[in-house]
Amino acid sequence: MARARTVYRCTECGAEHARWAGRCDACGEWNTLVEEVATPRAGDGGAARRKAGVGALGSGGRVAQTPRLKEVVGAEDHRLRTGLDEFDFVLGGGIVPGSMVLVGGEPGIGKSTILLQVAAQLEATGVPALYVSGEESPLQVKLRADRLGAGEVSLLGETLLETILATAAARAPAVMVVDSIQSVFTGDLEGAPGNVGQVRECAARLMRFAKESGTAVFVIGHVTKGGGIAGPKTLEHVVDTVLYFEGEGSLDHRVLRATKNRFGSVDEIGVFRMTEQGLIPVENPSALFLGDREKHHASGSAVTALLEGTRPLLLEVQALAAKAGFGTPQRVTTGYDARRLALLLAVLDKRAGLAFANLDVFLNVVGGVRMQEPAGDLAVAAALASSLYDRALPPDAIFVGEVGLGGEVRAVSQVERRIAEAEKMGMRTAYVGERSVPRRGSRTIRVEGVPTIADLFRQLFR
Ligand code: TYD
Ligand code: MG
Repeated sequence: MARARTVYRCTECGAEHARWAGRCDACGEWNTLVEEVATPRAGDGGAARRKAGVGALGSGGRVAQTPRLKEVVGAEDHRLRTGLDEFDFVLGGGIVPGSMVLVGGEPGIGKSTILLQVAAQLEATGVPALYVSGEESPLQVKLRADRLGAGEVSLLGETLLETILATAAARAPAVMVVDSIQSVFTGDLEGAPGNVGQVRECAARLMRFAKESGTAVFVIGHVTKGGGIAGPKTLEHVVDTVLYFEGEGSLDHRVLRATKNRFGSVDEIGVFRMTEQGLIPVENPSALFLGDREKHHASGSAVTALLEGTRPLLLEVQALAAKAGFGTPQRVTTGYDARRLALLLAVLDKRAGLAFANLDVFLNVVGGVRMQEPAGDLAVAAALASSLYDRALPPDAIFVGEVGLGGEVRAVSQVERRIAEAEKMGMRTAYVGERSVPRRGSRTIRVEGVPTIADLFRQLFR
């Protein structure tokens, strides 16, 4: 096969190099050269063409159609339902034909499992699905499929992108799963599978295939230690939708989160339980996440109500402040931003007189969920104070509010819905920012507006 001419382009300054080098001659940055196919493509735009002296009109352009938007007929109204309701929900109501979805997550979290289940569900309703596995042998995939009842799904064990695309074009499945983007490669580039150039080029071609054929393409992507999808960040910009699979390997539930979605709202989550028969949707996630609480109720535990996408969710935060051994005290967080914790500790010190300077501080959001909403701040602050005083908080209270640098508790959006969820889960008191207190009063839950964290602590630990 004739290999396409390739060049190495600097991701910082865009300079082109004939050969790979550790450092870009043009801008002096290290490790920024990425291999790509040299043929200038339409829409490639930019520097290379300008350098070649191509004018504004260029060459080979044609006059294209410009329909009114209302006349555009697209596949968007024909979403495919997988029957895995939580999965459809996270996608915004089902799979959009011709879309490309990136599914990221740590190894062993269940990416292959859920996509095989999705493929099986589709096949069961007569929608053809193709599962491309470059990671596992056909026998390995079959063993898993037997457990999941996915025997009808067509399998392609292949890593060469050209073969994958040719096969997909011939079979024309409605949905294709590529497991994983790091294991496939194109013969046009010299680099090994998984390197930045390969991942980027393969993803771009899969995207083009999806758009041209109408096949929805799911690509699985491994996640690095830092939590990003391995390979270029541009991968996330290329695809239509990015789903992340979160959860602690040791626990059996998993959270699927949309961090980008061109066809639905972002930050929508779906919760699943990993069982012998694969992943099963969880209907009441709040109950699941608060499950272990009643049995032992210690200091340092606080519950908050987050809005994950459009659904409220109750989560427990646990804090432990303990005397530091020696050296610099540790700050260890799971599921919460470490810098945000540092900031809250400073606010607690300055505005409420709680000194953590000589203490190790551990913070854990229970259930392996990543807490991103600032509305959880007040629960984190309450948990920290509770641990410091070694006094338990009321077990049936929730804490909702963003904490400002002045120690003030700020209003958060849609507090009504959070309170309603807490009420549903049997909570009796909701501590919220002063300006968040809803006007309506007839409930079984008492809503307390607190102006500052110092006020809250005076009430709780008096
Ligand atoms: P897998 O989908 O292979 O993860 P990934 O593709 O993200 O690396 O999931 C692997 C884990 O899931 C493995 O530890 C076994 C477990 N598992 C079950 O518990 N039940 C099942 O039915 C299946 C298929 C896997
Ligand atoms: Mg896998």
